[in-house]
Amino acid sequence: MIVEREWPLVGRDDELARFRGLLADPHARGLLVAGAGGLGKTRIAAEYATIATDAGYRVVVASGHRSRSDLPFGAVAHLLPDVGRDTIAADRGALLRQLAAALGSPSDGVRPVIVLDDAHLLDDSSATLVYQMAVANSVLVVLTIRA
Ligand SMILES: Nc1ncnc2c1ncn2[C@@H]1O[C@H](COP(=O)(O)OP(=O)(O)OP(=O)(O)O)[C@@H](O)[C@H]1O
Ligand SMILES: [Mg+2]
Repeated sequence: MIVEREWPLVGRDDELARFRGLLADPHARGLLVAGAGGLGKTRIAAEYATIATDAGYRVVVASGHRSRSDLPFGAVAHLLPDVGRDTIAADRGALLRQLAAALGSPSDGVRPVIVLDDAHLLDDSSATLVYQMAVANSVLVVLTIRA
């Protein structure tokens, strides 16, 4: 027998229902999935991304990784616009604001959903960016961390 697809998600109905409730709540900041290795954090975060995409949200997905944890904005580099050297050199605050606007801009008044797997391995710059967007409530943040 060849198993070509992942097994269907089992036993997470409560978590999925809670996430649907969060999506519908404009004041919700987000969700943290914490647990030991292999408990299904990545899997349920992917399910949350699918639910949000199917509901019409813009969903951006990134993950922390040990190999990129020293690289500023390494975790979210694939999502960011080219801001040019001058902005980077001139003012770190301006850079952060510009990146937050690019990543967290609502479309049709609906804020995006950002799903960050293994957030404990985010580089500091990405973590700061995500933190600012969460505080400003410009995105709904879903984080997983290995506890
Ligand atoms: N509810 C579930 N139903 C079916 N399969 C699941 C479920 N949760 C997890 N799995 C499967 O179990 C395996 C481990 O899950 P996953 O990779 O999501 O764990 P994790 O918590 O992210 O681990 P790590 O901390 O190592 O990143 C995967 O193959 C995943 O597809
Ligand atoms: Mg994982």
